[in-house]
Amino acid sequence: MNMKKTVTIAGLAILWIGAAHVTAGQDVPALKDVFKADFLIGGALNRNLVTGRDPNAAAIAEKHFSTITAENDLKWQRVHPQPDQYNWEPADSYVAFGERNKMFIVGHCLVWHAQTPRWVFQDDAGNPPTRDALLASMKDHIMTVVGRYQGRIKGWDVVNEALADNGTMRDTQWLRIIGEGSPDKKYDHIENAFRWAHEADPNAELYYNDFGLETSKAKCDAAVALVKDLRSKGLRIDGVGIQLHGGLMHPSVEGLEYAITSLAATGVKVMVTELDIRTQSRGYRGADIGQVSRASTNDPTAAAAETQKKLADRYAEIFSVLLKHKKDITRVTFWGVYDRTSWIGGSPLLFDRDYRPKEAFFAVVKTAQQQ
Ligand code: G3I
Repeated sequence: MNMKKTVTIAGLAILWIGAAHVTAGQDVPALKDVFKADFLIGGALNRNLVTGRDPNAAAIAEKHFSTITAENDLKWQRVHPQPDQYNWEPADSYVAFGERNKMFIVGHCLVWHAQTPRWVFQDDAGNPPTRDALLASMKDHIMTVVGRYQGRIKGWDVVNEALADNGTMRDTQWLRIIGEGSPDKKYDHIENAFRWAHEADPNAELYYNDFGLETSKAKCDAAVALVKDLRSKGLRIDGVGIQLHGGLMHPSVEGLEYAITSLAATGVKVMVTELDIRTQSRGYRGADIGQVSRASTNDPTAAAAETQKKLADRYAEIFSVLLKHKKDITRVTFWGVYDRTSWIGGSPLLFDRDYRPKEAFFAVVKTAQQQ
């Protein structure tokens, strides 16, 4: 072999090793170490990741996350599709993944208006169930699912997205049927859900989770009122999740600080539970799955250096606020692991479509190191 060829092969080998390292992210600091003294850090995991079909994504989660949330596999529709049928396998894989990696495992979510099978809200004749029948379904579901993972899933999103953006109650079947249109019963389904979750696992932390708390003061104030109501009735609530599906222009720093400080003032833990930042800036800003999709948030400029710089700056700004309030924040969870599998389009996470850490990743690390 001549000298030139040897040099070329050696060069290629170095390049290949370098690329493999970047893919596995072995040469960058682990987020869970970077934020060790501040809060838990993690991501939402999908089924491919926890069942071994996306090993590169699993490698990112193993290296960087100290906490995980199931993106879909513990939702009612997935785990309890028929009255007498539970689908445990994917959820079991999720919990096993977290245990293997000694992560704080979060269950998402028990009571939600979306991703709930039709049979829950309709009897065989197509009529809505009675209040008592719906409460019975809810109790059975919560006792069974929380009970199965007792002591293993450490915290539950008990109720998800029960409030509207203007601070009123969201108009859901839960509210309509259990609340029966009576202001006195407006929190009834929520109170019962928290009561039964606590009964099913007395040691699990219990959370209320919602989006837009950082963009609507009225909605944030309504979450504060909800926490106070539960506490006044002696019910356990440990934390409130600010989902934080953000964008380049929202939330404002002021809005985010308002949410953190007013929720923390009630005595609960504050958590950022579904962090991502869409790069497309027009249109609906919330996270209602009925109004937003990967197509509606697609951004043809997502990969451009200019967009990635804006994203990095935005992440740095958000993390500087979170670090400033770290005494009140116990956990920050990204809604996904890498861009390709995010529920929204564009380039919303810290790892790109090929699993490589992006400028935003380094901006987040730098923000932490500068504090
Ligand atoms: O897996 C099936 C696939 O088999 C099927 O072919 C395909 C056809 O539609 O659907 C696939 O399931 C989709 C699933 O995501 C996995 O990709 C569902 O249709 C789709 O509705 C589901 O969307 C999820 C959405 O919640 C609704 O449950 C998103 O992944 C998930 O990121 C999103 O997460 C929510 C949080 O739970 C609550 N907060 C807002 C957040 C974003 O909407």
